[in-house]
Amino acid sequence: MAEATRTPKRVVSGMRPTGRLHLGHYHGAVKNWIEISRIAECFFFSADWHALTSEYKDTSGIATAQREMFADWIAAGLDPERCTLFIQSHVKQHAELYLLLGMIAPLGWLERVPTYKEQQEQLKEKDLNTYGFLGYPVLQTADVALYRADAVPVGQDQVSHLELGRELVRKFNHHFGPVLVEMQPYLTDVPKILGLDGRKMSKSYGNAVELGEDSESARKRIMVAVTDPARKRRYDPGHPEICPIYHLHRAYSPPDRVEFVDRECRSAGIGCVDCKKLLLENLIPALEKHRAARAQLKEETIDELVQLGTEKASRVAEETMAKVRDAVKLT
Ligand code: TRP
Ligand code: SF4
Repeated sequence: MAEATRTPKRVVSGMRPTGRLHLGHYHGAVKNWIEISRIAECFFFSADWHALTSEYKDTSGIATAQREMFADWIAAGLDPERCTLFIQSHVKQHAELYLLLGMIAPLGWLERVPTYKEQQEQLKEKDLNTYGFLGYPVLQTADVALYRADAVPVGQDQVSHLELGRELVRKFNHHFGPVLVEMQPYLTDVPKILGLDGRKMSKSYGNAVELGEDSESARKRIMVAVTDPARKRRYDPGHPEICPIYHLHRAYSPPDRVEFVDRECRSAGIGCVDCKKLLLENLIPALEKHRAARAQLKEETIDELVQLGTEKASRVAEETMAKVRDAVKLT
């Protein structure tokens, strides 16, 4: 399952604070975090500085989005007793290590990261022509190296950033001595969850189902969601593998039902409306359960947890930075 060959000892991962989590966040990341927090020491943080690398024009929503995100992590099952939760910008050592790594980060490496050119071309409405955006993977490397983590649970889309991170750590250690730890990606096979319009699930596309979405809203949106476009009529056979509804079945329905849907979709034995109703039988209770768990969580409790987590993270980060400053002879 996991790509890392050894069992990880210490793990770091972060997420940009974009508000309430959707099913894509859960199945693509948080579920994996919950599992790994049972076997390794874990640090999970809100990557608020990373949010600024592409969204500096309006920062007003970050604080609220961050609270919503932490609440969703915990309500989804991340146990704050088993991991350290914190805010990136509250641990200033991230900025210090980022700066030092920036001194040795070759421009060519950064320009060659596939997402760099890709996003500049695709996200024309954003200003990605900045030093901050180019430096994104350097900041991400600092985030992980600061905790001397050996593994990073990330999606496939982040693997090129990590590869750069490993090379940067190697370069640092080569010049200054073996202080930092090379991180490995910790990938798990996550079932792909498509958005309700068939594109990647993303808040900005308006095609996402929130983890705690109101049942009525979820029901209505599922009932009008895109399915396999080949199924224009009831008797047209379908291809479940490209259908967002089938992806959700795989994540929420019991195995015998998933098999049933797969078979009956291909043979046009079942219509999309009925297929969606079957999905709702299991999806709606899952959303309700999440909402109930969230309602139990108090804002003050979350703030306290994050405060404690930030203190713990700062201690570990400072230990590393003391060694780094020594190595660079900045003492
Ligand atoms: N780049 C990650 C994302 O956009 C967030 C992130 C920032 C991160 N720093 C990290 C993930 C360090 C893992 C480790 O989702
Ligand atoms: Fe999708 Fe179900 Fe329709 Fe097949 S029957 S296309 S899986 S909604």
